[in-house]
Amino acid sequence: MAPIIKRKVPAPDHVELWVHSPALAGATPGQFAHVVTQGMLRRPISFSRLDVDTGNAAILFQVVGTGTRWLANQEVGTVLDILGPLGRGFPVPDAHRPWCLVGGGVGIPPLLAAASQWTGAAQTRPAAILGARSDSLVLLEEEFRQLGHEVWVTTDDGSRGTRGTVIGPLARWLAKNPQGQVYACGPTAMLSAVVAISGQRGDVWLALEQRMGCGVGACLACVVFGNGPEGPGYRRVCTDGPVFSREELIFP
Ligand SMILES: Cc1cc2nc3c(=O)[nH]c(=O)nc-3n(C[C@H](O)[C@H](O)[C@H](O)COP(=O)(O)OP(=O)(O)OC[C@H]3O[C@@H](n4cnc5c(N)ncnc54)[C@H](O)[C@@H]3O)c2cc1C
Ligand code: FES
Repeated sequence: MAPIIKRKVPAPDHVELWVHSPALAGATPGQFAHVVTQGMLRRPISFSRLDVDTGNAAILFQVVGTGTRWLANQEVGTVLDILGPLGRGFPVPDAHRPWCLVGGGVGIPPLLAAASQWTGAAQTRPAAILGARSDSLVLLEEEFRQLGHEVWVTTDDGSRGTRGTVIGPLARWLAKNPQGQVYACGPTAMLSAVVAISGQRGDVWLALEQRMGCGVGACLACVVFGNGPEGPGYRRVCTDGPVFSREELIFP
């Protein structure tokens, strides 16, 4: 059980809720919260902020349906029923090699949690490439700048940053940093393009946002095709992921 202690609207139809829960605050970036919403259905949402010192954690989500609409209407003081932290988060990067965070839309929030924990150890300046459909939907840009990241913004309509997708800046970054480490979260089409553009270069980690049921490995609602320890087969995003290496996934 986690009381809401702060609520913010960072963009139209997007809400960030801070909760107090030392257990959740100890999550690894990339892990997710499974939050009870309307009708007792749980919805998976990544952590946008994690602070072990205060015992506070935050989730940032877009309102897309009944569950997220219900959640968006909850006020400070409401106690949320949250299962977590669940799943496998991002591996900590090698601090001696450059890394780049690549986020599209609501794929950006879990990368902020990662950036906050990793930046202090970085031996080179980390990069963040943030993509959105248009200006008002660019999330958390200022937070990445404050952490000292080199930030590129892309929008589909060119209303902010470079017109186009995150793939253009990523291609340029990879050309300069062929041994770099890439951490990406966003729509499946974006992740597939990240894999394609990276080729065999560097290390690439991808956080999937698949539809889920139980969230704990029992229902198989979340499976994707990939490479497991026993060879090609179905992988459960909720327990084998949501973070996978490039080599573990097979995009259609
Ligand atoms: C590990 C994980 C982490 C996530 N982290 C975040 C996050 O940080 N912020 C955030 O905004 N969202 C995140 N999501 C997506 C979020 O779980 C869904 O948006 C949410 O479950 C939708 O619930 P709903 O009841 O509002 O929508 P529903 O009423 O269930 O669906 C509304 C519409 O959204 C579509 N939809 C629902 N879930 C998904 C999904 N997972 N992927 C694609 N389309 C979907 C449906 O097909 C439908 O068209 C994450 C998902 C996963 C699996
Ligand atoms: S959501 Fe049930 S097995 Fe993954």
